[in-house]
Amino acid sequence: MNKTSERTARKTVLSGIQPTGEVHLGNYLGALRQWVHMQDEYECFYSIVDLHAILGEDDPADLPARTLDMAISILAVGVDPERCTLFVQSDVPEHVELAWLFNTVAPVGDLERMTQYKDKSKRYESIPVGLLNYPVLQAADILIYRADAVPVGDDQRQHLELTRDIARKWNARYGEYFPEPEAIIPEVGRIKGLDGKAKMSKSLGNTVSILADEEGVWESIRRAVTDPQRVRRDDPGRPEVCNVFSLHQLVTDASLIPDIEEQCRAGTRGCVDCKRILADSLVREFAPFRERAEHLRTHPAEVRGVLEAGADRARDVARETLAEARSRMGIKWRSAL
Ligand code: AMP
Ligand code: TRP
Repeated sequence: MNKTSERTARKTVLSGIQPTGEVHLGNYLGALRQWVHMQDEYECFYSIVDLHAILGEDDPADLPARTLDMAISILAVGVDPERCTLFVQSDVPEHVELAWLFNTVAPVGDLERMTQYKDKSKRYESIPVGLLNYPVLQAADILIYRADAVPVGDDQRQHLELTRDIARKWNARYGEYFPEPEAIIPEVGRIKGLDGKAKMSKSLGNTVSILADEEGVWESIRRAVTDPQRVRRDDPGRPEVCNVFSLHQLVTDASLIPDIEEQCRAGTRGCVDCKRILADSLVREFAPFRERAEHLRTHPAEVRGVLEAGADRARDVARETLAEARSRMGIKWRSAL
């Protein structure tokens, strides 16, 4: 099948993840698990978004290592380069040019209303314009593949709304070209961190890593907050307010859930034992990921090869879209005069 017919045969998906170095359970259940599931039905482009990551405070010296680690984690959970295109955002500079073209239609007012911008801008005395423009680059990431669907966690809903607005505004001015992509948000919603309060997030230190070994999983789960009213081992518990129980519902074999719930309510199983079961479930779920990651870590050339081939493939599509967008915006004096 040639590229054009392949592109029209299936709908297109794009998603992105920052190279934070660690993939945690929230990323996995909230986003990456969908990446894996969507590979057969859609033509998928998955990007490690290093140009977004440089807005953070992480040390630039280890960005390359974090990028490679993220690629390993993505491949370890089952994203298969034979069935999708995995690449690093900065390898496809066309994203940045399209972001500039979109800057000409993206409303400042809308950008200022983004929750993530409002939160993060508080940390700065002088706010970098890149923080405000972050969602414009995200829109370019998506629309340069003319993606129809974007699997993301619940926290990205607003950025997707803005992407649709940008597509709509651009189309209104330059003619119908970009689709209005749909956010595909898993039912699990936002996964709470092990503190039982905020969303699971690396910067809050409330995560369990998907590549943790048995000891690492237990180290994280052992500290997880349960029902605060349960002080003694045999106090009756309230599964409906317990985050460990919520996690059980997401990862533990469904046939075990009724017993876990009943014994918690009756106070016949203590929180530590209950956490042991959760840790076992996670270790079992993560085992194949760890095995694949181990292989990839010892074969970095394989990972580089995947990313290089991915970038070539992504660029072919990105160039085509950018050429059309430039032309419609009048950036074509060489061919026009
Ligand atoms: P990030 O690490 O912030 O780049 O997030 C990568 C992906 O994981 C995005 O699609 C997020 O929406 C998703 N994600 C991150 N944290 C969570 C969470 N606690 N619950 C659900 N999804 C999440
Ligand atoms: N903003 C996203 C996050 O923080 C990452 C991202 C960048 C993204 N570009 C994207 C997600 C394009 C989906 C599609 O998680």
